[in-house]
Amino acid sequence: MNPQESAQNLLDFIDVSPSPCHVVKTIEEHLARFQFERLDETEIWTLKTGGRYFVVRGDSSMIAFVHGEKSVSETGFKIIGAHTDSPGLRIKPNPANKTAGLERLNVEIYGGAILATFSDRELSFAGRVNYQTEIGELEQCLIHFEKPMLRLPNLAIHLNRNVNEDGLKFQKQTELNLILANVTEQLPASQFMTLLHSQLPNAEKILAWDLNVFDTQKGNLWGANNEFFANRQIDNLASCHAAITALLDESILKNDSTLVCAFFDHEEVGSESHCGASGSFLTDTLKRINDVTSRNPQDFSRALAKSFLISADMAHAYHPNFPSVYDSNHLVHINQGVVIKVNVNQRYTSDSVSEAMFMKWCEQASVPYQMYSHRNDLPCGSTIGAIVSANTGIRGVDVGNPMWAMHSCRESAGVLDHYSMIKVMKRFLI
Ligand code: CO
Repeated sequence: MNPQESAQNLLDFIDVSPSPCHVVKTIEEHLARFQFERLDETEIWTLKTGGRYFVVRGDSSMIAFVHGEKSVSETGFKIIGAHTDSPGLRIKPNPANKTAGLERLNVEIYGGAILATFSDRELSFAGRVNYQTEIGELEQCLIHFEKPMLRLPNLAIHLNRNVNEDGLKFQKQTELNLILANVTEQLPASQFMTLLHSQLPNAEKILAWDLNVFDTQKGNLWGANNEFFANRQIDNLASCHAAITALLDESILKNDSTLVCAFFDHEEVGSESHCGASGSFLTDTLKRINDVTSRNPQDFSRALAKSFLISADMAHAYHPNFPSVYDSNHLVHINQGVVIKVNVNQRYTSDSVSEAMFMKWCEQASVPYQMYSHRNDLPCGSTIGAIVSANTGIRGVDVGNPMWAMHSCRESAGVLDHYSMIKVMKRFLI
């Protein structure tokens, strides 16, 4: 596979994954092609040496693993972690808002989205709906409206004369309602509920949902030589896709070590949930893998002490139109290599030991790397890296690929970097 093919595969992966639950479903489909077996957290697990498994928690977080030929107390776990969620707009429980002959949907802001980028785009919605059937049972279904359904039109400049001086701003409570439909006397009371029911033929009563607003425009390669790509949710589906592409290779899957790819929801809102990186999901899973083969009560601690975590999340590429927001000694450039992220205040889990180990893997994989450190006078973001390291005691490194417009409705990044990330992840897992 060449760099542009792997970038196109990433764009296809994102296009069919408009919500965290859909991300997990898409990864599940990739795993199925390599005979991964689904485990249920409520059952007793029996694991075969060399067996391929995955477990899902909360429908939106997943851990896939290959049970290595040797015991985990001997080899440790090799873990790659990334997140399935992206900032944006979610549909509130009582969304319909009717005025001026329009049905508008009331939304809640999820994480740190650049709100103005959601305006004037062909939006739609997707996610999980829970309902009661005609025979009184609770069921759930993933829905995905692929055609444009929603819109947040801007004001004309004639009504907002200073927009180019003051910036494009939306009042968060009153100005983010999304237009769904014209309301007429002939149409049913709520077009929104009608749409949901159209997807759920056996639903007697729709009870609750997690519905994500997304941009329906498909991903594209761009640039004079197709060296860049653009899509929604690149943060952090690019890292999820790189991890799963690195893992799903027969020469990697036959392994002495137990390989783990952990994909968590709720990173963009702090990871504190039953399925988030701050919860027990990873520790519970690693412990159960250990317990299947362990003979000594010290084995699990020994396994953790020998383990390593690559926390993969995106990084801020240098944007030459805005040179003042970067530390000039730590500029990272699109298509110039994977980024190692360093923060002495432990916003990232990297330390000099883990950084040096990752640099070595990059060199062995012939992959260029760049160092990122945030400006001292701007607050630094964080990742799942420090959280997972703190919860498990596993040493790790925070890495990621450079991108522009992080948390925009339409982000972009570099074709070569995505290919490089897959290569260095393979080197780590092998
Ligand atoms: Co991220």
